[in-house]
Amino acid sequence: MATLLAPADRLLDDLDPEQREAVLATSGPVAILAGAGTGKTRVISRRTAYAIASGVVPADQVLVVTFTDKAAGEMVERLRSLGLRGVTARTFHAHALSQLRHFWPSRHDGQAIPQLLDSKALILGRLARGLPGHYRFTPTKDLADEIEWAKARRVVPRTYLEEAGRVRREPPIPGDLFVRIFGDYERANRRRVVCGGSTGSTGSAARSHGGGRGHVDHVPVAGAVGGSSAGLRHRSRDRGRRS
Ligand SMILES: Nc1ncnc2c1ncn2[C@@H]1O[C@H](COP(=O)(O)OP(=O)(O)OP(=O)(O)O)[C@@H](O)[C@H]1O
Ligand SMILES: [Mg+2]
Repeated sequence: MATLLAPADRLLDDLDPEQREAVLATSGPVAILAGAGTGKTRVISRRTAYAIASGVVPADQVLVVTFTDKAAGEMVERLRSLGLRGVTARTFHAHALSQLRHFWPSRHDGQAIPQLLDSKALILGRLARGLPGHYRFTPTKDLADEIEWAKARRVVPRTYLEEAGRVRREPPIPGDLFVRIFGDYERANRRRVVCGGSTGSTGSAARSHGGGRGHVDHVPVAGAVGGSSAGLRHRSRDRGRRS
């Protein structure tokens, strides 16, 4: 259980008025829109600490999620310096993977999770080689980027052409071929057991993991509570300073 070093009010002392406003918003989503080095991490870590110190959220029910390992490490340090050693701060991917490891066996007769691929290039490379003519030399990264673009917008193969046309987006290969690849990619993932929201590299959280019964590309995060930068909805002016 985390023990805060500072009482709730002390956590506000050295914040500017906009930072304080964001920290005091202990419920509901808040988005911090501010430039580099203007105190975003400071606000999120303080908001987490303040919500705990003021009794709004139990420390063991807070999950702080970040996008990169570096940001997660920084967040852990900040939370530690506020006395919050027990609060979980990690990347979306690391957390999704830990949930998968935790829940998978109980739902699959005690088996370990499927093998994780470090990259989707293996699948996409194979699919690309099946493309006609020179398209078979399309870099897998271009295909992966386009799939990520689609997935980030919840665009599926069936709706891809319409959506790409609507925003005048040029696929890396002719649209009908791309839809075919995208569909094949989705089917390949389903055959291999699980595929979640994003299709990006599984990153350091998702190393190859025995089992050999298929692969997991990305899995969705089941929940993110309090202090999450993704869930924040507070608009803060870009202060553009580094103090
Ligand atoms: N109100 C403040 N008073 C004093 N120092 C502050 C204040 N706000 C932020 N800082 C300091 O400014 C520096 C940058 O803050 P922080 O790392 O939180 O910014 P950031 O917006 O997350 O930066 P980045 O864009 O690099 O992620 C830190 O040293 C932080 O302690
Ligand atoms: Mg930061």
